[in-house]
Amino acid sequence: MTSHFPLLLSLLLLLLLLPSTLASLSTHKYTPSSRVILYVNKIGPYANPQETYSYYSLPWCRPDDGHEVNKKKEGISIGETLEGHELRSSGYHIFFSTNSPHKETSCTQTLSKYDVNELKKAVEEQYFYQMYFDDLPVWGMVGERTREGGDYIFTQRHLSVGYNNDRIVEVNMTSDGLEPIEVGHELEFSLTVTWEKSTKSFHNRFERYLDNEFFEHQIHWFSIFNAFMMVIFLCGMVALILVRTLRKDYQKYEREEEVDLEGMERSLVEDSGWKQVHGDVFRPPQYLMVFSALLGTGWQLIVIVAGVILFAIAGPVHGDVYEERGEVITAFIVCYTLSSVVAGYTSGRYYRQFFPTPRLEAASRWQMTMGLTVLLLPCISAFVLSGLNSISLYYGTTASIPFVVMFKIFAIWCFVSIPLSVVGTMFGRHFGRKNSFPCRVNSIPRQIPDPVWYGNPVFLVPLSGILPFGSIFIELYFIFTSYWNYKFYYVYGFMLLVFIILAIVTMCSTIVSVYFLLNSENYHWQWTALMSGGFSGFYVFLYALYYFYFKTNMTGLLQTCFYFGYMGLQSFGMSLLCGTFGFAAASWFVRTIFQNVKVD
Ligand SMILES: *[C@@H]1O[C@H](CO)[C@@H](O)[C@H](O)[C@H]1NC(C)=O
Repeated sequence: MTSHFPLLLSLLLLLLLLPSTLASLSTHKYTPSSRVILYVNKIGPYANPQETYSYYSLPWCRPDDGHEVNKKKEGISIGETLEGHELRSSGYHIFFSTNSPHKETSCTQTLSKYDVNELKKAVEEQYFYQMYFDDLPVWGMVGERTREGGDYIFTQRHLSVGYNNDRIVEVNMTSDGLEPIEVGHELEFSLTVTWEKSTKSFHNRFERYLDNEFFEHQIHWFSIFNAFMMVIFLCGMVALILVRTLRKDYQKYEREEEVDLEGMERSLVEDSGWKQVHGDVFRPPQYLMVFSALLGTGWQLIVIVAGVILFAIAGPVHGDVYEERGEVITAFIVCYTLSSVVAGYTSGRYYRQFFPTPRLEAASRWQMTMGLTVLLLPCISAFVLSGLNSISLYYGTTASIPFVVMFKIFAIWCFVSIPLSVVGTMFGRHFGRKNSFPCRVNSIPRQIPDPVWYGNPVFLVPLSGILPFGSIFIELYFIFTSYWNYKFYYVYGFMLLVFIILAIVTMCSTIVSVYFLLNSENYHWQWTALMSGGFSGFYVFLYALYYFYFKTNMTGLLQTCFYFGYMGLQSFGMSLLCGTFGFAAASWFVRTIFQNVKVD
């Protein structure tokens, strides 16, 4: 039974994510004069990427051909829905490589007062729409406002399709036929299609959507190089300081012991420093359960981010598969689900080390810790996302999450994620039992002296967050721009490098921070380490604020909420992730320095 357990889980996961798997089976091959469906997707103001409505929410011409029912055939993946895509047939009858220019009048419409108001508003807010032709996106503006203040709408669209043998390799759309938006005016919407032979290869057809000039700009390379130099410099410095200082410290302590043997008094100077807290450093942190849960979640986030980046580099996203809308989100869900085992393992293992004997163990509340670990991230995300979902339901945008999708995600969480988390906790507790600390913990806690300014967490924590933030903020600009500004992010290699650099810088700066803290004889290093590493997330949020006000033109409640909701979640996630990196490094550091301390 147990050996089939993972198999069953993967099957279940596969079943739930099946639509996305099916979609990728479509071959994109056409025989002459077979129908190619032009799908309409979404529409919305250009400045607000999340404020998107369904294409037919605008009171303009609808074809008779069942535009409401004729949804995309292959099924829609969870990721696609979550990204707010809503593909429907446009109702046009377009046939593959019918050579003669093909004109279709979809419908005529006489504008009512209501239509005029809605259309004018759309033109004023610079509405644009998106369509998909054989999974290639095309964009167009709804209309134009002239300098005199008149509003006009485009009524003619022209598709120019390039094909190579039996496949479509290129689509251009142009709009024309500006007509004034006035009550009683009759509009005739039409679409023409021309087919041209092309020599482009099918597999490179997405390349033209990638903004090479933007993403592979010298600045990008330069920033990576810069961050890299910073890492080398920082690591060298940390190593130098620590080795020198620690060696001096050890020498001092050895001398001190000799002096002690001769029965002399300890000098005041020698009575300070990190060694003094050897009886307290391995005390459990305050709020141990919460700490374990945060740590478990942090490790889970590290695994998720690494997994998604690696998937994007190695997997189908690279090359011709930008057409798989929502791939990255689907990858995220899969990674999240599977990495629950990591969260359970790390949190269970960390918690267990503080209860070495069976008697203590029995009194511990590991079940509660496990529950916290399982619930922490989902609850916070669900809280934010359901708020955003209510707003988008109220506005009626395509970004609202349908009930079925919510149910599916909930089912995956319940039946795959939670069991994996429990399994992870069991393993973690098993291994955590074998962990022992290098120093014994005194029964009476030592008094913590008033800190000097450089040993004060209030000072150490914000300072040590600056360097990690500094190493990533140029990459952040690229990521923000692609997410909020309609660019396909594809340079995941850069992202991986930056991720590694971020990890190293965070570790170094946290170690330094913890060293100063312990040196001022404050042994509450665990939370300080977590926050030192995590404080860069706060800077990321500040940067997001700056970006919102100076780099975007977003307006309205909906878009503002979406922006800050997502950015808040992301910054929080980043805090946890970096905090965990920092804590891991500090933990290693503390164990290492106290291993060599001879305790009397
Ligand atoms: C689409 O537009 C590009 C750039 O304007 C042009 O080079 C290409 O030939 C066009 N393709 C087709 C099929 O019209």
